[in-house]
Amino acid sequence: MANAKTSRKGLKICGIVTAIFIAILVIVITTLSLTIFKPKDPDITANPVGLRNISFSSLNVTIDMMVTIDNRNYGSFKFQNSTAYINYRGDIVAEVPLEEELVPARGKINITTSAVIEAEKLITNPNFWNDVEAGSLNMTSTATLHGQVKVFKIFKLHARTVSICSITIWIDTQSLESKCRSKIKL
Ligand SMILES: *[C@@H]1O[C@H](CO)[C@@H](O)[C@H](O)[C@H]1NC(C)=O
Ligand SMILES: *[C@@H]1O[C@H](CO)[C@@H](O)[C@H](O)[C@H]1NC(C)=O
Ligand SMILES: *[C@@H]1O[C@H](CO)[C@@H](O)[C@H](O)[C@H]1NC(C)=O
Ligand SMILES: *[C@@H]1O[C@H](CO)[C@@H](O)[C@H](O)[C@H]1NC(C)=O
Ligand SMILES: *[C@@H]1O[C@H](CO)[C@@H](O)[C@H](O)[C@H]1NC(C)=O
Repeated sequence: MANAKTSRKGLKICGIVTAIFIAILVIVITTLSLTIFKPKDPDITANPVGLRNISFSSLNVTIDMMVTIDNRNYGSFKFQNSTAYINYRGDIVAEVPLEEELVPARGKINITTSAVIEAEKLITNPNFWNDVEAGSLNMTSTATLHGQVKVFKIFKLHARTVSICSITIWIDTQSLESKCRSKIKL
């Protein structure tokens, strides 16, 4: 009995980590697409390229991923180093560093990043199993990007975008709902 229970818990954790990973993709894509100069939405895709450090003593999961940005605008965007954080009931449970990069006008670039999910902090949170029993986990994410937009090599604008997402992970269906809002300051 105890074993069955443990493995059910293991499966749930697996599903939750997967859901967090999907949440990370949503956040990275939202943050970048809001930041890179509009009129034409850039085409952004993110793909996991590998898992590292899945050790059950620490439960830190590192996911390498590659984000491809296809900027179809005539403006380039350069952003500075930043980190997106995912917060669960006051604890940071995942971090996604984004390294400074120039996204050229009408160009494509690949960005690689390593997202760290600290599942241990999640699981040891006193509310965690209650929330799992209740059927949902709520998280928020924040990301701030500082950068510079250049249009036709003439206009230079300093831009700062802050995006905040609220994420609900539904345990039973292992599905995800996210709502993001953002502010752009030029
Ligand atoms: C994770 O992996 C990296 C490189 O693969 C290693 O440098 C680091 O020490 C590992 N971290 C943990 C917590 O195992
Ligand atoms: C997990 O990762 C975090 C952030 O990188 C680090 O501070 C923490 O020590 C790691 N925990 C373990 C048990 O490796
Ligand atoms: C941005 O991060 C990279 C890698 O961590 C580092 O080499 C670089 O110096 C950082 N740039 C700034 C302006 O801090
Ligand atoms: C980005 O990665 C894709 C897929 O691996 C590759 O086909 C493409 O050439 C890369 N683009 C750049 C600009 O590195
Ligand atoms: C998470 O948010 C959803 C939607 O706002 C809500 O229905 C649910 O009860 C919340 N779950 C917890 C554990 O607070």
